[in-house]
Amino acid sequence: MIIGVPKEIKNNENRVALTPAGVTELLKRGHEVHVQATAGEGSGFTDDSYKEAGANILPTIEATYQKAEMIMKVKEPIEAEYSLIKKDQLLFTYFHFASYEPLTHAMIKSGAVCLAYETVEKANGTLPLLIPMSEVAGRMSIQQGAKFLEKPMKGRGILLGGVPGVRPAKVMILGGGVVGTEAAKMAAGLGADVIILDLSLPRLRYLDDVMPANVKTLMSNEYNIRELIKDHDLIIGAVLIPGAKAPKLITKDMLKEMRPGTVMVDVAVDQGGCFETTKPTTHQDPVFIIDDVIHYCVANMPGAVPYTSTLALTNATLPYAIQLAGKGWKTACKENNELKLGLNVINGKVVYQAVSEAFNLDYTDVNTFLN
Ligand SMILES: NC(=O)c1ccc[n+]([C@@H]2O[C@H](COP(=O)([O-])OP(=O)(O)OC[C@H]3O[C@@H](n4cnc5c(N)ncnc54)[C@H](O)[C@@H]3O)[C@@H](O)[C@H]2O)c1
Repeated sequence: MIIGVPKEIKNNENRVALTPAGVTELLKRGHEVHVQATAGEGSGFTDDSYKEAGANILPTIEATYQKAEMIMKVKEPIEAEYSLIKKDQLLFTYFHFASYEPLTHAMIKSGAVCLAYETVEKANGTLPLLIPMSEVAGRMSIQQGAKFLEKPMKGRGILLGGVPGVRPAKVMILGGGVVGTEAAKMAAGLGADVIILDLSLPRLRYLDDVMPANVKTLMSNEYNIRELIKDHDLIIGAVLIPGAKAPKLITKDMLKEMRPGTVMVDVAVDQGGCFETTKPTTHQDPVFIIDDVIHYCVANMPGAVPYTSTLALTNATLPYAIQLAGKGWKTACKENNELKLGLNVINGKVVYQAVSEAFNLDYTDVNTFLN
């Protein structure tokens, strides 16, 4: 198959969909890979490193779309790319269709086959192409929280791990899923006193088993949250109710109960946030302060560490890309239900129920394209 990797042109997006290592793997299997010049620059991969791996470098985004049967991207296509997409071309990338109607209409009009990273799903309900970004954001939440706890950043001026003879900081994590677990590991590793709250007792049992002694678990409820916020220095919001807006677990009135300089990192901001006072922020201007409480609410945290994020993402996407390239999308999706669930739009038809419902569009059973 002929694979094209365009440079991401969405504002502040520095990731790339394929690394030179990925190029080698695809070439080994007899495929052809074309990478747009400077596509890997933001993630630390030069054109020469792609050339050495055997890719062909194309000068423009137009040439890349023109050449490819399968486009591998990171972010959803933006308006400038809509007209470049060809009928029957396979697009393998994040789309998040339900959050942007014009994109859905543009992809329907294009006649392309849109396989969305975010809806590729394993039999146990986990989303293998979202997990790596949650891992990055979870680990980063502690790094950012620690920084904003410093006095010059207007925080309480407390070191997460303390020092001999001085108590460490207290870190409270709401939600013990992927983000919460990675956050807890980082905070615990730095020596902080950590507590994870979750609604799921089986999850709390598991965390209690695997976490080090400086991580405690607690059932999530309003009473417990109100008690803990009074003396916790760093609060991480990491809850998720699939398909729904995040519940507001910390309300505005609770901020007055906290100590000045407390830092709250709302990783769940992309689902509306789990603090009532959350507003999305950017890496350029990541925090704001309400009632002396610092709020960090960056919606694309992995964007700040594109090298790590690109490798984490491509480690997860490459095995699927190899199947798609080797078998063609129809056979690959017929044989692998995880990939089949990634199909959202095919040749002008919406084949993913939630997308059709979001915009009141006709729904076509995906199997009609696979038989
Ligand atoms: N800001 C970013 O850059 C960024 C990056 C990646 C992920 N995220 C977001 O982070 C959030 C968490 O993602 P995840 O992958 O960890 O999800 P996950 O499904 O692995 O974990 C969510 C956890 O929240 C728990 N939960 C639900 N309601 C709760 C409540 N009321 N109190 C306590 N716990 C509760 C669930 O039981 C589950 O264990 C999501 O909203 C995700 O979109 C944001």
